[in-house]
This record gives sequence, C-alpha cells and structure tokens, in this order.
Amino acid sequence: MSKALGFLVLLLCACVLAVDSSASGWEFATPVISQPQVTLNLSSLSSTGQYTVLTHPDFVDYQVRVKKSDFCDPTVNVYTGYLDVDYGAKHLFFYFFESRRDPAKDDVMMWINGGPGCSSSMGLLMELGPCQIDMKNLSSNGTVWNPYSWNADANIFFLDQPIGVGFSYADHGETVETTEDAARNVHAFISIFFETFSQFAGRPLHLSGESYGGRYLPAFASYIVDQNRISIAQGREPLNLQSVLIGNGITDISTLYPGRYEIECGTAALEVPMQRISTCVRMRMALPRCQMDMQQHCIDRFNEMNCRAAVGFCDSELSTGYWGTGRNVYDISKMCIGDSLCYAENTAIKAFLDRPTVREQLGVESPNNFSACSREVGRGFNLHMDKYAVPAQNYVAGLLERGIRILIYAGTYDWQCNWVANKLWVDKLEWTGRKAYNAQNWRHWEVDGAKAGETKSSGLLTFATVRGAGHMVPHDKPAEAQAMVSRWLAQLEL
Ligand SMILES: *[C@@H]1O[C@H](CO)[C@@H](O)[C@H](O)[C@H]1NC(C)=O
Ligand SMILES: *[C@@H]1O[C@H](CO)[C@@H](O)[C@H](O)[C@H]1NC(C)=O
Ligand SMILES: *[C@@H]1O[C@H](CO)[C@@H](O)[C@H](O)[C@H]1NC(C)=O
Ligand SMILES: *[C@@H]1O[C@H](CO)[C@@H](O)[C@H](O)[C@H]1NC(C)=O
Repeated sequence: MSKALGFLVLLLCACVLAVDSSASGWEFATPVISQPQVTLNLSSLSSTGQYTVLTHPDFVDYQVRVKKSDFCDPTVNVYTGYLDVDYGAKHLFFYFFESRRDPAKDDVMMWINGGPGCSSSMGLLMELGPCQIDMKNLSSNGTVWNPYSWNADANIFFLDQPIGVGFSYADHGETVETTEDAARNVHAFISIFFETFSQFAGRPLHLSGESYGGRYLPAFASYIVDQNRISIAQGREPLNLQSVLIGNGITDISTLYPGRYEIECGTAALEVPMQRISTCVRMRMALPRCQMDMQQHCIDRFNEMNCRAAVGFCDSELSTGYWGTGRNVYDISKMCIGDSLCYAENTAIKAFLDRPTVREQLGVESPNNFSACSREVGRGFNLHMDKYAVPAQNYVAGLLERGIRILIYAGTYDWQCNWVANKLWVDKLEWTGRKAYNAQNWRHWEVDGAKAGETKSSGLLTFATVRGAGHMVPHDKPAEAQAMVSRWLAQLEL
C-alpha cells in the first residue's frame, strides 16, 4: 500500500555469450542478432557466476542475462538474472523457480509485491517463496525450506519492478512513475521470458501479487491482453494469460475508508472493536465528507490538487487513529514492530540480501544496497497520484469480459487494504456477470477439514477471505494460501 509501505515474466533465436557477471552486459550484445540461431537448453546454463546473454530479433532493444543458481530451493532448478530494457539502460531483476511437481507441464506464475516500490523478494522470503528467511538461526545458509511454497505446482518467477525496486536499477537515473508505464516493461519482460525459457512457451500464465498489486496487476494484465492482439496480427505467439490473483489489494479507492472503519470500529475483523469509542465517533462523522470529497475530486472527475486534499482529509481523520494505536497496519491482531513495515523479517531480509556472498550467488549487479521498499519509487508514483488517477477496477471488468479469471482474496486481519473494502468493490463491480455474482451465496471454504474463510464465486470471478490472516496471507496462513492457489490453478472450487 502506497502510504504505509512506500513509506513506508518460438525458440530463442539467441546468440549465447558468456560474460563475466561483474560486467554490465549490454556492450557485449549489440552485434549479436546475425549470429547462428541456437535453441537454449536451460539445463545447460552455468552456475559458476557467469551470465548467459540472450537476445531476440523481435525485441531489439532488450536482452536477458540469466544464470543457474543454487539459491533457496535445492529440490528444483533455479535461475536468476536481469532483463535489460531500453537498449540496456534499465535492468529488471528476477528469480525463477521451477515447479516442484512437473516443470515440463505446470503453469507459469509471476508474483509481484506492492508499495509502490517494494521488492518481490519480500514476498519470496517471508510469504510464498520456496525458502523463507531464517528467523530462528536454524540454518547455516540464512534461509529455511518452505513446504508451502507456491512452486508446489507452478513454475514461478518473482520480479523486482518497476526500475529502482529491490535489485532492479537504471544506469542513468531513469525512473518509472506510473503503473501504465511500468506495464510496458513488465510486458516486455514476460514476452522475453517466454522466448528465453522456450520450453515454457504457450504455457498458461497467471499474474499474482498483493497490496499495490491491486493497482498494478489489472493494468499489467490488460496491457498483455491488448498487446496479444498485436502479436496475433503480426503472426507471433500471444502470451497465454489465464488469470490474475490479487491478495489484499488496493483496486477501487472508493471503498477503502469505509472498509477501514469497519475493521477498526465494527466487528469485521475482531469480535469486539479494538478502537476507542471516541475515536470511532469522530471517524464516523468524518466518513461522509471523506467519501463525498473523494467521489467529487478523485472519482467523478480527477483533479490532482483537490483529490490530494480529499485524501489528506480522509487520512488525517480516518487513518491517524489507527496508526496511533501502535498496532500493525497489516495485521490488527499484532503490534507494529521494527520500522513502518511492522515486521522483524524486513530487517533480517535486508541484512541477508546485502550479504556479499548472497549478492554474488544471485548475480546482483545493482550499485545500490538492498531496500525492502524504495522511497524514491514510492515518491515518483505519489507525485502522479498513481493510486487515485486511474480506476483500476475498470481494468478488472475489462479482463473478465475477455475471459480472464480473477481471484480476489483477502486476509481478514488486514487494516491497510482490508477485506471489507475489497468485498465492497467486487460487489459493485460493473460487468456483465455482476447480477449472477451477487446472486451467489457465501460459503465456507476449508483446508484439512478446518474452515479457512468465506468465498463467493460466479463464472470467472472468485472472492475469498482468509480468516485470521493479515495483509500477507501466505505469511500468516501458509497451508491455506497454498491450498487456495493449488485449487485455483487446477480450476477447482475453493
Ligand atoms: C537439456 O539438457 C539436459 C541435461 O544436459 C538433458 O537431460 C535434457 O534432455 C535436455 N533437454 C532438451 C530439451 O534438449
Ligand atoms: C539451507 O539450510 C536449510 C537448513 O539446513 C536447508 O533446509 C535448506 O535446504 C538449505 N538451502 C539451500 C539452498 O541449500
Ligand atoms: C547461530 O548459530 C551459529 C551456529 O549454530 C552460532 O555460531 C551463532 O552464534 C548463532 N547466532 C545467533 C545470533 O544466535
Ligand atoms: C551499502 O552499505 C554499506 C554498509 O552499510 C555502506 O558502506 C555503503 O556505502 C552502502 N552503499 C550504498 C551505495 O549505499
């Protein structure tokens, strides 16, 4: 979520060049397209610290540097690397883990964290990745194996985006400051990914993420769908995008504050409201004005200055009360520890990823130290009021109308991008399946015979809560989260 967190992925016609991983890469790549065409066998990639450089004639201003790594999951093939975009000026870092089940047949999934500006390694190392940061000094390598990883039955990559996030960087200070701009680089990345990892070409693709992912993913998926039309017209293979999964996302801004009120002052999260009565009364008084001003200045007609003022009012009247409690903004059942990201893992992950041995193992070439969330990137998006300027729910409707499955899930203890706000926007989403969706009944969904949450589903759209989980659902309820994703990929009911 922007405020708190920011402050808070044919054959490869490739010329294969091994370069020393300490070189910046691009200067080696310029003359390569006329070289003999080679099909790359990923298993033949070196893991000795050398990057293999791959180019493609359809994407002349892009190249991929990739190497095999022994990072994180010894049970599968792991690759890390950079996609160099815009003639090598911008470098997007990724981690790729093959599926633990059947990498030759399983779907491909991308995971991104939010912010805007937060690194997807956070999701990797404290939520759904094949290994988790070792918080108990149990291991000598800094991580422990995660039995509930989402690569249980999918090939999965984690992308640090946009430029400036995590280990992604730009050579000349270029920035990406809107979701719609970021979409181009992500589309290029995923296109080249499928060209490079050619054994995955045509495989079903799923985009997943959380938090600001609720703004990113609908736009990224829509850009892919629109670009697919161009690919088809040009006789190229389209990306086989099948679904989008958003956890505790920020999508439709109109329901955020009423949702927060219900979490703090109602019984939507806890049986007894946690907020002081006097604070709740004041919040209840401010809510209609907050809603009216946002409707007028952010939604009906976006006016940057007035929208900023409206959001300022809403935050001061409806958010400061919660921050004042010292509670974790991502989990109402916990106190906020450490920095404004509220979890001890953040500090441990930074220390781990800043280790020279780990950077070397990953092939990191960013000149910067790691930061969980980039303030600069957050600031750039805030400058454009990216969160408010485009109604991201309309992308979701557009995707549903074009046959893309959508899963909106939310941990019930989150305050920041809470489940009530998500339920409210999904209920009022304007699409042809709206009536049918609203006519469905809520039902329990279960994991190992125990209730995991509530769900409602119609056609391509599914909404699900995860009981007792905060913002980072796989962190809090790993077995439930993994079961949910497995069922979703298998197109089973939750
Ligand atoms: C790739 O290389 C591995 C190991 O060298 C081999 O087992 C596999 O059959 C090769 N795959 C293809 C598609 O050539
Ligand atoms: C790191 O150590 C843990 C605990 O000893 C082990 O389970 C895990 O597989 C190791 N990870 C790697 C990448 O070797
Ligand atoms: C972690 O374990 C190692 C070896 O078991 C030990 O040398 C080290 O002091 C421990 N570190 C902490 C912080 O407990
Ligand atoms: C990275 O961190 C180290 C150790 O804290 C520090 O000496 C160095 O200046 C930092 N580098 C950058 C680019 O900030």
